[in-house]
Amino acid sequence: PRFVALVPAAGSGSRMRADCPKQYLLLHGKPVLWHSLKVLHTEPRISHIVLVLTEGDPWFARFDWSDLPRLQVLYCGGASRAETVRNGLANIASNTPDDPWILVHDAARPCLSRSDLTHLIDQLHADAVGGLLAVPVPETVKRATLDGHVAQTVPRQDLWLAQTPQMFRLRPLLAAHQGVLDTITDEASAMERQGDSPRLITGSRNNLKITYPEDLALAALLLPAADP
Ligand code: CTP
Ligand code: MG
Repeated sequence: PRFVALVPAAGSGSRMRADCPKQYLLLHGKPVLWHSLKVLHTEPRISHIVLVLTEGDPWFARFDWSDLPRLQVLYCGGASRAETVRNGLANIASNTPDDPWILVHDAARPCLSRSDLTHLIDQLHADAVGGLLAVPVPETVKRATLDGHVAQTVPRQDLWLAQTPQMFRLRPLLAAHQGVLDTITDEASAMERQGDSPRLITGSRNNLKITYPEDLALAALLLPAADP
């Protein structure tokens, strides 16, 4: 089967508190989003990249994307990440008769390495369900009470942090995104809700999601390592 990338980039970046959505902040002179797309674009098995922006996005057109000819831009972002992904999947499904692998990758993860991307595809291309890049939780985890005291220390031995790309087949993934999407923050959880058990593929902590202001400087330091 084919491989298609889907990049949800319709978020507002509220925790970043910047003047524009975080995917358009500059990293080594290029938008964060450019870096996230570039690594997908260098993987020869990915036929094209579907980018989902919010309707009327005024920022995208201000930058040069001409070095990414296999990019296809849709303006059908939703109110939540899961809705944005569902809208993108529905568009792909209506334009193709087959059932390609879809690699959903956050616009806000510019430090994905080529080797992690290659490894993910190598490990999952023959899988029955699919899976995701993830890393073991490195720190001690506390469950808190509402008034900010420790209620419990949660054993971390079996805890993982979910990253992207997350790789599933188009039609089961679209089916998993029908109905209420309230609690869905990644594609794996949509599949889990259907009874599937996605595979965890060990990635790198360098594949951070830019979320808070301090993450941008960290990403700038990690970027050369991500692009050997
Ligand atoms: N995203 C999206 N559509 C939404 C919300 C999020 O496409 N309605 C995308 C973001 O653009 C980002 C990815 O999903 O690439 C991960 O989401 P997150 O880190 O939460 O980004 P934001 O929602 O933009 O940030 P915040 O939650 O701080 O507002
Ligand atoms: Mg968000």
